[in-house]
Amino acid sequence: MINIAVLGYGTVGSGVVEVIENNRAEINKKAGEELNVRYILDLRDFPGDPYEHKVVHDVNIILEDPEVNIICETMGGISPAYEFSKKALLAGKSVCTSNKELVASHGPELLRLARENRCNYLFEASVGGGIPIIRPLNYSLTAEKIDAITGILNGTTNYILSKMAAEGADFAEVLKEAQDKGYAERNPEADVEGHDACRKIAILSSLMTGKNVRYEDIYTEGITRLTPADFAYAGAMGRSIKLLALSRNGEDGCYAMVAPFMIPVSHPLYSVNDVFNAVFVHGNMLGDSMYYGRGAGKLPTASAVVSDVVDCARHMGRTVMCFWDAEDVKLVSADKIRHRFFVRTRAELEQQAAEIFGAVDTVSAGIAGEYAFVTEKMTEKDFREKAERLDTVLSRIRMED
Ligand code: HSE
Repeated sequence: MINIAVLGYGTVGSGVVEVIENNRAEINKKAGEELNVRYILDLRDFPGDPYEHKVVHDVNIILEDPEVNIICETMGGISPAYEFSKKALLAGKSVCTSNKELVASHGPELLRLARENRCNYLFEASVGGGIPIIRPLNYSLTAEKIDAITGILNGTTNYILSKMAAEGADFAEVLKEAQDKGYAERNPEADVEGHDACRKIAILSSLMTGKNVRYEDIYTEGITRLTPADFAYAGAMGRSIKLLALSRNGEDGCYAMVAPFMIPVSHPLYSVNDVFNAVFVHGNMLGDSMYYGRGAGKLPTASAVVSDVVDCARHMGRTVMCFWDAEDVKLVSADKIRHRFFVRTRAELEQQAAEIFGAVDTVSAGIAGEYAFVTEKMTEKDFREKAERLDTVLSRIRMED
């Protein structure tokens, strides 16, 4: 029997217990042994819950029990999840986590501790919820040199953008509706400002490069400034607006970015709507592959955590290889990244725009008093300097083809 402890009996933690309960026979068969939830750590009590007798409030009961083999860390946040994970790994207990903040901040250190203590630190649920993307990058695409990852990695913002596109609604209006339905957090900042997607692309970029991509170094922009007018122009161009988290590892170096992009109908991520996530990966031999599914939610995320538990159970006493060294990657400055830019300005500034930007493609969406255009491809720095000379920039959105 393999004993498990779940740290944090919130949405994902209770989902882990539910997945193990519902799919017990299937999971035990695949793990090769019976999995047993021995403890649940939480500050709260859960009277009436079928697992209430397993709830403990002191993590040391778990850490000091030699019969606990695997920990599911579903607490979120850095502290005390970091301290608990470290102690568990030092005690030779494998840790499976959904905690992207912790993985993005301390991944290499926790992976090293796992190696040194012949156990595992697995984090399939930290990116893309239930979508298998960590395992494909780690195990399946090992014959590839991966040079590009482009993802829709945040369900909340994708839901908001899909609604804004479909209904012509305001950001604030849709955010409120998403909060009322429980899709968006009461404090939505990490999602809508792009921080959540930033941590996730930092994790994927680290796996792509085999070194450490610091999330703090990634240029990140959220969706709060998008308006119905932006979607009207996107529609007129046959495009949708998506919060893309992208990472490139080419001859010019490695860069990553999180920002809203206008993407054409031919783009594989165009039809990824609502709370769904998708990750589009390019490898030098395979070419394109795409991973799509529910990027958030109790059972999809819990299913990914339990898939890691099964992996740990299959590799007791052995560490599964994960190429993510502690050495930091020096990212190419965001200033050097090149895109075309969509720009909205006041109608009377058409001539000034032409003088500053030269050849542009004009875009019309029937909005009175405005002039909108798409620039040629240029660096971020070049664009910024030109845009500063234009008297009014109502909005600007990057284009991805
Ligand atoms: N807040 C995240 C999202 C949850 O909306 O995608 C999953 O990480």
